[in-house]
Amino acid sequence: MSNERAIGIFDSGVGGLTVVRAFMERLPREELIYLGDTARVPYGSKSAKTVARYSKRATRFLLSQGVKMVVVACNTASAYALDELRASLEVPVLGAVEPGARAAVEATRSGRVGVIGTLGTVRSGAYPRALAAAAASLSKRVSVVARACPLLVPLAEEGWLDDEIAEAVARRYLTALRDEAPELDVLVLGCTHYPLLRPLLERVTRDLFHHEVALVDSAEAMAQAARAELDGRGLERDGGGAARLRCCVTDDARIDEIAGRFLGRPLDGVERVDL
Ligand code: DGL
Repeated sequence: MSNERAIGIFDSGVGGLTVVRAFMERLPREELIYLGDTARVPYGSKSAKTVARYSKRATRFLLSQGVKMVVVACNTASAYALDELRASLEVPVLGAVEPGARAAVEATRSGRVGVIGTLGTVRSGAYPRALAAAAASLSKRVSVVARACPLLVPLAEEGWLDDEIAEAVARRYLTALRDEAPELDVLVLGCTHYPLLRPLLERVTRDLFHHEVALVDSAEAMAQAARAELDGRGLERDGGGAARLRCCVTDDARIDEIAGRFLGRPLDGVERVDL
């Protein structure tokens, strides 16, 4: 397999661009093809079967572009479809849940970990399973409290990242989490959109908990895991020349307006594709 091939990254929409951003920082030489399934977003409120079906289609598109690795940059798709995708693909498949869970287990001292994500991610139980597996491999014990925060996704898309409305919503979700687990010291941002709300979430957790709560961003953890995986398989791109990002979406309404916010810089161009 050629090292020069691109890494394929997909998400239900634009949120996965936070993962692309982390990849561009940590793996600056790699070519990236991003697919945002914007015609079908959100995945977070859909059934496991539907999310698995959409994820397979998205993956098929990336494979047709000859990628050397598939990154499921959507927590909901990772939670519902990762095992199935892994079983059916020959290239390595990296999800969002395991890297975030491992980083959380490494960070916790109290052994009490909180997870916030979409309804699907929380319902799937994927984080508690991954956290238990990571804890076992690190000879630690953790207990998990998870909470769906569906309103945070539209707030991030709207760009209401740190105003009084976003704060009221975050406070309501996190107060419920605090009441359930006042001793938690790690909070996993188990959704691609949440890194945009990080300054707000940091402020609110600081206010609600009387000790430090570390926020784990799965985008960062995924980029690190991808680097280790490419390294382990000898798949890093050696190539000269600047790496490129090719960005594809299944619907392009509002893309120019929203995407730059997630990527942290304007997009060079977007291709509309049919799956
Ligand atoms: N990408 C999704 C996730 O990380 C959030 C948006 C959606 O519901 O599709 O879970």
